[in-house]
Order: sequence, then structure tokens, then C-alpha cells
Amino acid sequence: MENQRNMIVTDMAARLQGIAALPETEAQCLPGKFYTCPDFYQFEVETFLKKEWHCVGRVDEVASPGDFFTTFLFEEPLLISRGDDGEIRTLSNLCRHRGMLLAEGRGTTRRFVCSYHAWSYARDGRLSNAPRMQDKGVNAENCSLPSFRTELWNGFIYVNLDDNAAPLSSRLHNLEALLGNYDTQQMRIVHTQEEIWNTNWKCLVENFMEAYHLSVVHPGTLHPYTPTGLSRKSMSDDSFTSYCANYPESAETRGTGAPGLSEDERRRSTLFCLFPTQIASQAATLLVSLSIQPLAVDKIMVRWTMSTYSNELTSDELEARLALWNEVNREDREKLERMQRGLSSRHAPSGPLSPADFEGTIWDFYRYLSRSISQLQTL
Ligand code: FES
Ligand SMILES: [Fe+2]
Repeated sequence: MENQRNMIVTDMAARLQGIAALPETEAQCLPGKFYTCPDFYQFEVETFLKKEWHCVGRVDEVASPGDFFTTFLFEEPLLISRGDDGEIRTLSNLCRHRGMLLAEGRGTTRRFVCSYHAWSYARDGRLSNAPRMQDKGVNAENCSLPSFRTELWNGFIYVNLDDNAAPLSSRLHNLEALLGNYDTQQMRIVHTQEEIWNTNWKCLVENFMEAYHLSVVHPGTLHPYTPTGLSRKSMSDDSFTSYCANYPESAETRGTGAPGLSEDERRRSTLFCLFPTQIASQAATLLVSLSIQPLAVDKIMVRWTMSTYSNELTSDELEARLALWNEVNREDREKLERMQRGLSSRHAPSGPLSPADFEGTIWDFYRYLSRSISQLQTL
């Protein structure tokens, strides 16, 4: 049985590499089973997803010492906390006594006190008190909260569960150049939301990153200012892919944003995927970033944030943008959940991808997947 599973996954990995190696003019979609096979999902988790950097949120979600929020990454409970020294850490959100989840949701605290037997921890994760344990050898050296690798880049917080992972930000110079004029780091958070979607994680990456569906799925929301026909493939490298969703001349301006922006940059949204699970839309006055947390082969948690540049947008305008993004996400989610139900079919297609300006980003994503699994093809 185990052998059979290994063979299926090895076959699929070889198929993926074959598809990613096709000439771009013959680019085609991955067959349905890549989005529905639990063994392949497990293979992805173990071979690269658990070793990659994942965006968990924005730096200004924990603006001051004592601010925290909690989340999960592949069943690891995480506690993102800003310490008294100003440093943002990703701590294990698990009490060192008997494993109770320590903090919940978000907030500001002087210390983290376990709700079970009241062990307490400082904001940097050091054990500060363990009642009635004086003779048990419990101390800050052996019972503080473990931490995970954390990097900050452009105002985003990234976490890696793998202690040996190579650093992230040093390989992001191309993406940095693409976003440089937007002053992404300075954008200020105005909204955070979490949702469960019944879709494979790759389906949302592909959906967010392709312009082919914009005018069809979003006729009333996105089409008026980012129609499919004006979209253009943009920069990519081993770490990311991107495209520009250009606004028609007839569209109203979406705001001024950072002083260094060109007129062209003001009149488009730049959509990028920092592989594997961050997808984002950067515009002059608005930044929307979705962090995808895969939960199962057909289930994800989407944690998304909306940030704005300076105080340019009024609260009414921000409300309207939030309503628009909620509607856009609802439109996409409805399509993805409906597609997921069909992808197990033995007739699930491996159809052709449209030209690069519309689905070339999916092609980049496949090549990333192919590189990621090339090191190890067996479980
Ligand atoms: S599990 Fe936290 S104090 Fe016992
Ligand atoms: Fe969409």
C-alpha cells in the first residue's frame, strides 16, 4: 500500500516536471488529480511547503511591545509577539507544561499566562513563573517558548518552520525593484480577516495570479478598472511571479500614493505571488495581501490584510474598498469551490493555458513547483 502510494506520487512528480518543461507555447494546466490527491498534497507539505517562507501578516499588526496575534502553519500553533526590546518574534503558542494553547486571537498583554495551570511567559517567550514547581527544575532555560525563524520584509512578517532554511529577503531584489516606488513598507494596516475556503491551495494561487478570468468572473467589481484585455505579464524570477492589471483611460484615478510613483504605476495594480503562498495586489493607495495556509488537499485558511498609503483615502472610501474586496473574494471563492468539486473526475482536463499576459504567471508557478520537488521525489 505504502509502495503503491509512493509510486503514484513519484509518477505525478515526473508528470509535473514534464509539463513544466514544455515550451511556453505549449503550456498546459496540471491535471485535476494534482489538486485532489491527498498523497500528493502530503508530498508537497513534506518536500517543500514546510521548508518555505510563509507570510503571516503585517508588521504593524504588532506595532508596540506586548502586541500579539496567533495563527497556525501546518498544524504548528504560532504566537507572533513584539517584545520589550521591540523585536518581532514567532513563538510556539504552546505552554511548556502540558501543551495547552497559550494565547488566542489578538491583543496586547504584559505577559502570556496559561489558562490551565497559570504558567506565565514574558513577551519574548521566556518563562517567568511556574506556580508550585520550585523543586522541579523548571526554569527559563529549559521551559521558555521555542521560536521559529522570522524575517521582516517590506512591512510583511514571514515565518519558516525549518531552522536550516536559507534567508528570504536577500533573494527578493527583483521583487523589491518592482514594488520599490510604492513604499510598501510604509503602508498602514486597516483590516485583517480570516476565512476557510474549500479549495486546493494551488487553485487560489493560480486564480489570483491570472488575468484571464477578471472580466468574466468580476464583471461589476474588477472589470471596470482592471479588465482582462489590458493586463500584462510582468517580472518574475525563482522566488516570485507578477502581472500588471492596467486601468482603462476612462477609469477614475485610484489615488496618488507614494511621491515616487510614475503615472503608469498609479494607473495599475501590480499583482504578485511570492512563492509559494503569498498573493498580493499592490496599488497606489491600497495593498491587499492574502496568506494561504493549506489545511488539507481541498481546504485552506485565507488570512488577508488590507493596508493603505498615508491618510489619503477617507474612511468612506476605505469602507468601499473593503466591501469591493470582500465581493471580489466571494466571487473567486464561489468559482474555486465549485471547480474543486469537479477536479476529482477522471475527465478533469489538462487544457491549454492562454497567452502569457493572461496565464503566464501560472506557467511560472508550475516551474517553481517543479524546481521545488526536484530535490526529492520519494516520501
Ligand atoms: S498546561 Fe499550561 S500551565 Fe499547565
Ligand atoms: Fe478573481
